[in-house]
Amino acid sequence: MAADSFIAFVERFPEHVSEARNLGLDVKVSGVDKVVVAGIGGSAISGDLLKSYCSEKAPGLHVHVSRGYDVPAFTDNRTLVLAISYSGNTEETLSAVKSAMRKGARIVAITSGGKLMQQAEQLNRPVVAIPDGFQPRAAMPYLFLPLLNVLFNAGLIADPAQEISAAAGALKAASSAYRERARMLADKLAGKVPLIYSSEKMAGVAYRWKCEFNENSKIHAFSHVIPELNHNELVGYTRLNANYYVIFLEDDSDLRRVKERIKLTKELIGAKGVPSTQLVIKGDNVLMKLLSAVYIGDLASVYLAKLTGVDPEPVAIIEDLKKQLQRVPFV
Ligand code: PA5
Repeated sequence: MAADSFIAFVERFPEHVSEARNLGLDVKVSGVDKVVVAGIGGSAISGDLLKSYCSEKAPGLHVHVSRGYDVPAFTDNRTLVLAISYSGNTEETLSAVKSAMRKGARIVAITSGGKLMQQAEQLNRPVVAIPDGFQPRAAMPYLFLPLLNVLFNAGLIADPAQEISAAAGALKAASSAYRERARMLADKLAGKVPLIYSSEKMAGVAYRWKCEFNENSKIHAFSHVIPELNHNELVGYTRLNANYYVIFLEDDSDLRRVKERIKLTKELIGAKGVPSTQLVIKGDNVLMKLLSAVYIGDLASVYLAKLTGVDPEPVAIIEDLKKQLQRVPFV
């Protein structure tokens, strides 16, 4: 894909939400009471978003995101393990599936193909097959929405169908405003190190922004949460070592105390000469908030790439590392 086609692909996020809305509805799993999402990078982020979603929609449900070779020790035969790998060839995720098998977990694979598809078929486990040919991170709606549908079928959350359809429509309607907002943000970020701050609830979104700036804009970026950062990272502003730009992602339903902390933090770092911007995340429900905030961040990252003359799509250094690892025996 040429750079402009990739940007156009990212701009079509609302259509991807609409296209992906029924994925996973044919998967039925019962007898589970907790969830582990196993994946890495652009595939794992859907697990973080699921965690935020469930913190509001199913507060009693334990959702754990596992980014490594093994699933956690608490995994058992009542655990739903959602193994996500866009390519299907990521060694950590393939290893996590083996670890989940050993623990007797209920496994569902979400992938466009590769070894994960083969592994799941051989083990006779359900697969949500998603379209191939995309960058994993740009396929986020195709990886994320099946999680909601599988959890609904498992009786763990209420039916998300109506909210998904409404979100697709609302995202489309707001698309040109989001693009404008993202362009303005990209202008401010050229030559800066973005630091993205949110409450715990939106930590997955802040981390998504960080990763999109890393992979699409090809720059360092970092995320952190309030209140925790008020007790450590804040001190770094007293001895600046880079050209930072801070983005506060404020959920309109954040605790009043968290909002107060955002205001004070903004003032304190402003007094140290660090510019910042605040994005208030609004929406009728948590799904709309998560998707709209992700969309704006994705757009800002590709517009920043264009502005700074880099191609947002390829991630050659990741591919290079993966190739080099293939030459080292997996023991
Ligand atoms: O966005 C990316 O390209 C990476 O972060 C990948 O998602 C990561 O390397 C894992 O690959 P996959 O998503 O195919 O499992």
